[in-house]
Amino acid sequence: MKVRIGSEVREYQTVWMEEDVVCMIDQTKLPFEFSIYRAKNVEEVAEAIRMMKVRGAPAIGVAACYGLAQAALQNRHLPSKELKAFLSKVAAHLLSTRPTAVDMQNMVTRVLGMCEDLNSSDEVAQAALCEARKIAQENLEACRRIGELGSSLIPKNAKVMVHCNPGALGTVDYGTALSIVRFAHAQGKNIFVYATETRPWLQGRLTSWELTQEGIPHCLIVDSAAGYYLQRREVDAVLVGADRILPNGDVVNKIGTYMLAVTAYENGVPFIVAAPTTTFASSSSSVKVEERSSEEITHVKGYNPELGTITHIKIHPNVNARNPSFDLTPSKYVTFMVTEKGIFKPNEIKREL
Ligand code: MRU
Repeated sequence: MKVRIGSEVREYQTVWMEEDVVCMIDQTKLPFEFSIYRAKNVEEVAEAIRMMKVRGAPAIGVAACYGLAQAALQNRHLPSKELKAFLSKVAAHLLSTRPTAVDMQNMVTRVLGMCEDLNSSDEVAQAALCEARKIAQENLEACRRIGELGSSLIPKNAKVMVHCNPGALGTVDYGTALSIVRFAHAQGKNIFVYATETRPWLQGRLTSWELTQEGIPHCLIVDSAAGYYLQRREVDAVLVGADRILPNGDVVNKIGTYMLAVTAYENGVPFIVAAPTTTFASSSSSVKVEERSSEEITHVKGYNPELGTITHIKIHPNVNARNPSFDLTPSKYVTFMVTEKGIFKPNEIKREL
């Protein structure tokens, strides 16, 4: 993705590995500060995922795979059997940090699978690293393809609404729903984006930051203004990503997606879900909806330009606040799904994947 630093424009991916350090754009500091967080061990990777320094279903999956590879490299002095048992424990710990998105599960299982039959610890470490890099590259290519394919659904002069940050920051690069926006914009389609704020964590600020880097016209709206624009037919399509797509086509995604889908349906606005195939779950069971700290609701995170610091301001007294992070949108509200393999309707999942 493009990042403007002063007068320079640089290309970055969201997460990558340098020797045995897992590097990531620190999303807790954006849009105020652009900085790179370097996790020196897998415990720091797990904490970075939990704290949402890296976030978005595919990005946390890739970060976890790099964390596993890092753990393998740093512990290759162990006998191979012990190393593999240790990696299984590490994987379980990583998976517990953000339990809803299925990409992490699918990707981590792949890395562990590559190590399974190997007899030397060096081979285990090399296989883990190689598979993690491969998964990252595949995600980048899948997201690029989603953009290429999905942009065909976007007419010229379209106004689209995007929820959460289904952007390059939520993947290795390009994004899911935002990859479609990037490609449509690059094709000169004159796209305008309504980016929902996505309370409480405010991922909309990240979407707005990415669109600003790319020079894509947009505005930020509060979540409760979405219905206003949909009802006035000022939106031609709603685009979202997903954290887990069930075999029947139901979509688990950022809290508020369900409300948006029902309102889009009611107003005849297409509701498009974009996700790589790593976001598809093989079974409908064990969907755990992450409930995050109530402090995300009772406090807001802001920037003090005079001090150049990020502060947390309390906006509610000590009340009982609930903070489910995801919801489930039944497939009947989904018009199209876009994956790297094609565009299809939710009831065509079995045939298409
Ligand atoms: O809690 P987050 O910010 O990790 O949630 C992210 C989303 O819900 C995205 O829509 C989803 O991961 C898919 S697009 C990267």
